[in-house]
Formats: sequence, structure tokens, C-alpha cells
Amino acid sequence: MIQETIVITQNSSGVAHIAPMGVHLSTTPEFIILPFRPSTTLNNLLESKTAVINYCDDVRVFAGCLTGRRDWPLKPAEKINGQVLTCALAHTEVELVRVEDDETRPKLFCKAVHTVNHAPFKGFNRAQYSVLETAILISRLNMIPLEKIQAEIDYLRIGLEKTAGDRELEAWGWLMTVIEEHIAEAGA
Ligand SMILES: Cc1cc2nc3c(=O)[nH]c(=O)nc-3n(C[C@H](O)[C@H](O)[C@H](O)COP(=O)(O)O)c2cc1C
Repeated sequence: MIQETIVITQNSSGVAHIAPMGVHLSTTPEFIILPFRPSTTLNNLLESKTAVINYCDDVRVFAGCLTGRRDWPLKPAEKINGQVLTCALAHTEVELVRVEDDETRPKLFCKAVHTVNHAPFKGFNRAQYSVLETAILISRLNMIPLEKIQAEIDYLRIGLEKTAGDRELEAWGWLMTVIEEHIAEAGA
């Protein structure tokens, strides 16, 4: 199973890096993070051997990171040298155990050292799904034909319009600006 999370890593100067990542849940060790090269998350994790996996229902963080808004409030991790998203519902602090190297997408096997719950999970929301899917689409814009992008957005907009709250609408607006710019550039 793959969980869409926010992974926070740090470089050797202590500068935090926030990135949405689909973390694969495994048995032992529990998590596999798979960054596509080149990746700051990859470089930081190889250097510091630690990361924080944040479980977050504020989809603005996902959409924000894909649209140049990476400056989200953070607080110190509890057991490792790292940072936690202030708006996370829960987080897990992990240590790197093993690396399966790959030219395109190395596998970083991590074990949990500490997990904290901050707030309850309040249920699924279709608009949040629409924002996540569109953010993923944006991370692959140059690989997908324009007609497919348009068709996917048309479908995802249905759930968005029926169920969004303010956070989802704001995130959707950021994503649509990027999509519209891409369509205009591709059409020019
Ligand atoms: C929901 C979601 C899941 C993502 N999962 C991954 C992933 O597993 N691996 C990856 O390299 N990028 C993933 N991305 C794209 C990265 O967040 C984005 O390209 C980011 O800049 C990664 O590079 P970095 O480590 O240099 O920040 C995902 C994006 C979204 C919105």
C-alpha cells in the first residue's frame, strides 16, 4: 500500500526540505521512500539518515509544494534531529536502514523510531482526493498529452465542486494557475 505523505528531511546545515512523497508501507523495515533522481529528499536522507513522515489532511501543503509554496510552519521532531509539519494530524520519525540504489528511483528503506498523534482523522473527502491527483498530474505535466490533462481535470473538478472547503478551494486555485499556464505555453 502507498500512503501519500509529506516527507521532511534536513541538510547538514539543518535546512529543512518539505516534499510530498508516496511512501510504500512494508513489513520490516516499515517504510520505503522512492525519490526520483535528482532529488533534495534523496540527498538529504543519504546525508542525515533520518526523515519525518507527516500525515496531513491540509492539501494546501501538497499543492503548495508543487506550485512553489514550500514555506510551511514547522516544529522540532521529538527523537531525531528533524522537523515536523505543525498542521500534521500525526507523524512518524524514521531512520534510514538500507538503500537499494537505482539510476532512476532508488529505494530508501526506513524504520520508525517514534510516532505521535496530534489530531483525529476526520474522514475521507473527495475534494482532497481531487487536489492530490491534480498535484501528481502537475509533477508529470511534460509527460502527459494536453487532452489527457484536460479530461482528468474535468473529472476531478466534479468531486472538488461538490465537497470542497476553503483549504481545498485555495489549493485547487494554485494548481489551476499552473495548469492554465502550461496549456497556454503548449498551445503557443
Ligand atoms: C501526492 C504526491 C506524491 C508524490 N510522490 C512522489 C514520490 O514518491 N517520489 C518522487 O520523487 N516524487 C513524488 N512526488 C513529486 C515530488 O513531491 C516533487 O517532484 C518534489 O519536488 C520531489 O523532489 P525533491 O525531493 O527534490 O523535493 C509526489 C507528488 C505528490 C503531489
